[in-house]
Amino acid sequence: MNIIRRTVLAVADNGAVSRFFRSNRLTRGLVSRFVAGDTLVEAMAAAHDLDSRSITTTLDLLGENVESAEEARAAVETYTTILRSMRDANLEPNISVKLTMLGLDFGRDVAADNMTAILDVARDVSGFVRIDMEGSACTEVTMLIFDELHATHPAEVGIVIQTCLRRAESDVRHAIDLGARVRLVKGAYAEPEEVAFQNRVEVDENFARLTRLLLSEGTYPAIATHDLDLVRAAREHARRFHIVSDRFEFQMLYGVRRDQQERLVADGYRMRVYVPYGAEWYPYFTRRIAERPANALFVLRQLRR
Ligand code: FDA
Repeated sequence: MNIIRRTVLAVADNGAVSRFFRSNRLTRGLVSRFVAGDTLVEAMAAAHDLDSRSITTTLDLLGENVESAEEARAAVETYTTILRSMRDANLEPNISVKLTMLGLDFGRDVAADNMTAILDVARDVSGFVRIDMEGSACTEVTMLIFDELHATHPAEVGIVIQTCLRRAESDVRHAIDLGARVRLVKGAYAEPEEVAFQNRVEVDENFARLTRLLLSEGTYPAIATHDLDLVRAAREHARRFHIVSDRFEFQMLYGVRRDQQERLVADGYRMRVYVPYGAEWYPYFTRRIAERPANALFVLRQLRR
């Protein structure tokens, strides 16, 4: 699995491959499975559809590593518009944001100031902002910025922790001490051995262990996985320790395991779906392809033709 992921992510970086995917009609069909559309109107339609099935949403404007401070400011404008639009549409305002989209590459203060502007609006609309976690080169600075933001906006901001990282347990314990909301994920990036477990079993065991810790001691954790063994383990732990279903939520990605999203709601659990939209879909799309051998094979067949 790890080899497939590394290969797909490496090939996807190639300029010719990127151009091919952006223009190919068949792969655009696959993109629309994972991405709600190019515009906020399309993303809101997806959110309403989920809402009609008692599933909440976190909206993500696609884009990362912006190339200028102006682009970062534009992302702030769009994100604040998203928050207000969700409130006006009677949807719970909830967004997911990457710090490199807010200008992290131009300095820690740029990203922190931009995020503060978003969090002020989140506070106005009683909304919530999740800081997505990017590759391990960003982990330490993201955690430091998160600490600062949580000190001023404790109710409005949460973080993502990746169980592939060796540091995950210490970050989870730190978040528990802060009373901060954690989304637990396996991790979508190819990471070096020094910082990350390379063996899938270790990543999964870490996920199961940190899920138990967060369910028992955390503040409204989000268990974000499509791995049904891990979902089952979370449910069993909650049942065993009488942790009621409104103390946590499950999260899944738009277009992945839709049947299970509905099943969890039918069983009385909270489910939030991560809905990405926007023209800058390529890096997000390649991570989704890299996650699943069947997706990778489909794409390789298109490339061979
Ligand atoms: P795993 O990869 O083992 O998949 C379990 C099963 O789910 C697969 O066998 C397959 O059936 C299905 N599945 C999983 N991915 C699929 C796909 N792309 N297409 C089709 N089927 C698929 N990562 C990160 O590094 N930073 C972040 O901020 C986030 N944020 C985030 C939010 C939410 C709501 C989710 C659900 C996930 C993330 N992730 C993330 C991604 C996460 O790290 C991880 O890469 C994916 O969730 C896939 O891992 P699973 O836990 O689903 O297990």
